Amino acid sequence: MDLTAAIKERRSIRKFKKDPIPKQFLEDILELAIWAPSAMNRQDWHFLVVQGQKKEELLKISASSFQQFFRPKLEKTFKDKPKIIEGMRAFSETYGDAPVIILAYAGKMPDGQQDDVWSTSLAVQNLMMAAYERGLGTVWTDGVVFAKEQEINELMGIVDKKLVCVIPIGYPAETPKVPPRRSERIEWIGF
Ligand SMILES: Cc1cc2nc3c(=O)[nH]c(=O)nc-3n(C[C@H](O)[C@H](O)[C@H](O)COP(=O)(O)O)c2cc1C
Repeated sequence: MDLTAAIKERRSIRKFKKDPIPKQFLEDILELAIWAPSAMNRQDWHFLVVQGQKKEELLKISASSFQQFFRPKLEKTFKDKPKIIEGMRAFSETYGDAPVIILAYAGKMPDGQQDDVWSTSLAVQNLMMAAYERGLGTVWTDGVVFAKEQEINELMGIVDKKLVCVIPIGYPAETPKVPPRRSERIEWIGF
């Protein structure tokens, strides 16, 4: 697969087919994720690949975070656009029917203080590109992280790690529009 084309053609996917993902694909994708660069090569990240009962419980947490935190805000922002609110409610309750959900956690930076969200984010980008190469869709989501991180960590039995994002993964059941990029945000100095 051509890397330039892949970078441009990968889209965030929010509707998935229910088809299962071959376990080998998931293993390959995670293996490629951990080839990302990391601060002082500490590779201090941690991934949970979740399906079954824990996934269902995670969906319940996500659904309640929507009702509790996001619905009231969205009702103000999208007063005349109930379809948008409805779409977001449905997504928060189902993660688009993704058969698998991956949770990306960060450990610490070399200073032992800050959460190494940077290295973990690079690994997630690798993960999303590797998924795309295999015909799979993903989307980085983090609304639920801000609303319910502790509850999720208790469900997953995780302590002392920072939840960076929650990534539903599966075969795409939609072809989203291409959001244009803002090249004016690149500044050239000394050229
Ligand atoms: C830091 C970050 C947070 C995001 N949070 C969400 C989210 O909570 N829910 C969601 O549906 N998409 C989320 N996205 C996906 C973006 O909406 C998406 O990348 C953007 O609209 C560009 O679309 P594309 O990925 O198809 O190019 C997030 C992406 C990033 C990088």
